[in-house]
Amino acid sequence: MKLEGKAALITGAGSGIGRAIARLFAAEGASVLVAELNEETGKAVVGEIEAAGGRASFLRTDTSREEDVKDAIAATVEKHERLDILVNNAGIGGPTHTWDQVIAVNLSGVYYGCLHGVEAMRGQGSGVIVNMASMAGLVGFTVTGLPVAFGSASGTAYIAAKHGVIGLTKQFALGGAPEVRVNCICPGWIETALTQPLTQAQPLLEWALQGTPMGRLGQPEEIAKAALFLASDDSSFMTGAPLIVDGGWTAR
Ligand SMILES: NC(=O)c1ccc[n+]([C@@H]2O[C@H](COP(=O)([O-])OP(=O)(O)OC[C@H]3O[C@@H](n4cnc5c(N)ncnc54)[C@H](O)[C@@H]3O)[C@@H](O)[C@H]2O)c1
Repeated sequence: MKLEGKAALITGAGSGIGRAIARLFAAEGASVLVAELNEETGKAVVGEIEAAGGRASFLRTDTSREEDVKDAIAATVEKHERLDILVNNAGIGGPTHTWDQVIAVNLSGVYYGCLHGVEAMRGQGSGVIVNMASMAGLVGFTVTGLPVAFGSASGTAYIAAKHGVIGLTKQFALGGAPEVRVNCICPGWIETALTQPLTQAQPLLEWALQGTPMGRLGQPEEIAKAALFLASDDSSFMTGAPLIVDGGWTAR
């Protein structure tokens, strides 16, 4: 049990990567606050964790609203008298979203979490933040002949926001040290609701697999294990760093 007795707040934990992180952290002994926009999926994840013998609660949270993020942090501190772990995971993507929407959730939401999370953790003398960046925070995407969203306003905003998340990670790591460690994960293509349009369209899937030396999509649980490493003392000398878990995409 690597997180025994820890209080963890995970945004966007109703689906995909956030759900896998919430389930793993609870299995490792943490009390988890599922901070999620979608009430139905958020509560369902709490039910899954409780059914497995873990501790979790739900708070409807829109991370693009600073007050919501502050409330989620305050709710964790009120319940556990501490916030040990904050995972800024909530994110959106795809052509149905505008530039402003993607920046609001994927960049501003992470900023609010880091700002108020570091403040709360410094006050208590310790804490760990894990931000969900992306391989799209390290490189741009060249796509020819395929109807993917990366050339659109939404796709460009996604690239810009994820590059920004790595910048936020470095800046808040400097501000939080030595008490608070702040790192981020750069996943590659992971099989979740977010990437469903990709996995359902054969040419897109082939493009993603061809660019991934491991030759397959990653699973949310594989990202959750990286998050556990960053949230636990196993990474005790690590701060301000991106951890790449992309099946080799950015090694090309
Ligand atoms: N799936 C991938 O291939 C991949 C790759 C790199 C990075 N990521 C990042 O991982 C994170 C999780 O993505 P996922 O693939 O699990 O997607 P997902 O769609 O399965 O889960 C995202 C969750 O965030 C929630 N959410 C969306 N907007 C929110 C808001 N404003 N406030 C609170 N919750 C909100 C959604 O309701 C959903 O439950 C995102 O930041 C995404 O950009 C995903």
